[in-house]
Amino acid sequence: MRIHEAIGLAAEALEESGVPDSRLDAERLLAFGLGKDRSYLLAHSQDCLQEADVERFFARVAERRRGKPLQYLLGFQEFCGLEFEVTPDVLIPRPETELLVEAAVERFSGSGATLADVGTGSGCIAVAVASAMPDARVIATELSEQALSVARRNALRHHVSRQIQFLAGDLLLPLSPLGLEEKVDCVLSNPPYVAESDLPSLQREVRDWEPRLALVGGPSGLDIYRRLLPQALRFLRPGGLLIVEIGYNMQRAITGLFEGAWSLEGIRDDFRGIPRIAVARKQ
Ligand SMILES: C[S@@+](CC[C@H](N)C(=O)[O-])C[C@H]1O[C@@H](n2cnc3c(N)ncnc32)[C@H](O)[C@@H]1O
Repeated sequence: MRIHEAIGLAAEALEESGVPDSRLDAERLLAFGLGKDRSYLLAHSQDCLQEADVERFFARVAERRRGKPLQYLLGFQEFCGLEFEVTPDVLIPRPETELLVEAAVERFSGSGATLADVGTGSGCIAVAVASAMPDARVIATELSEQALSVARRNALRHHVSRQIQFLAGDLLLPLSPLGLEEKVDCVLSNPPYVAESDLPSLQREVRDWEPRLALVGGPSGLDIYRRLLPQALRFLRPGGLLIVEIGYNMQRAITGLFEGAWSLEGIRDDFRGIPRIAVARKQ
């Protein structure tokens, strides 16, 4: 089978299964399998493929047709200009989460800050922050041991392992033995925030393939924020910042949670104009 024939067949099959950008996905899967880039496919469209390559390619196409995200098939996703390994044990890093990293770097660059990343997943936030601020210390926590292994590999890949401590456990509790009460400058988190009842209506790529632990934040989506805020007050220094990503339509509920010991500095919109990144200061 020739390269252009394989791509044509795969694109058709993917489209039939409701995969958006079917041709692009077909090209990326084939290029990945051949260890080449997409321009190679264009330049060699009349070349014949080896049988083994055809088999492997259509096996991946079949998985993509079942909704498996392209990133899990390719094994990586770009985030903040860095390439991150991703497996089905971790959430695929999203572009809007880059705004959270930006907000932290804007405020803490060059200050030798101590930051905590809660629910690190692939490690994308911790690694991007450490890489942008070589003088920062980052403590990254995570409940899933499998996710922590991916995060550790991503830190190694980007040469920031010495700056980041990866700890297994619930939210900020793993910081307890470190003597960091009232010492942390900034707590960062993109927590699970999908309401249980919204899960069935999510895109199948997300609903059926990304880890439930990374998605669902209890009946209203707010469970983790409710538990994280008091813990953050315990570990942040006075004047320290909590920077969290929030879900669609959560602005009012989140504003309510920040009453009392916090002053909410603002909620930044994402690229689609959806309020997404909340920044609050411990008073
Ligand atoms: C929305 S994902 C975010 C992953 C990554 N930080 C990112 O932005 O792509 C939330 C992460 O929090 C982890 N998690 C869920 N509950 C947790 C808890 N109680 N303590 C620590 N981590 C938790 C999940 O396993 C998942 O990796």
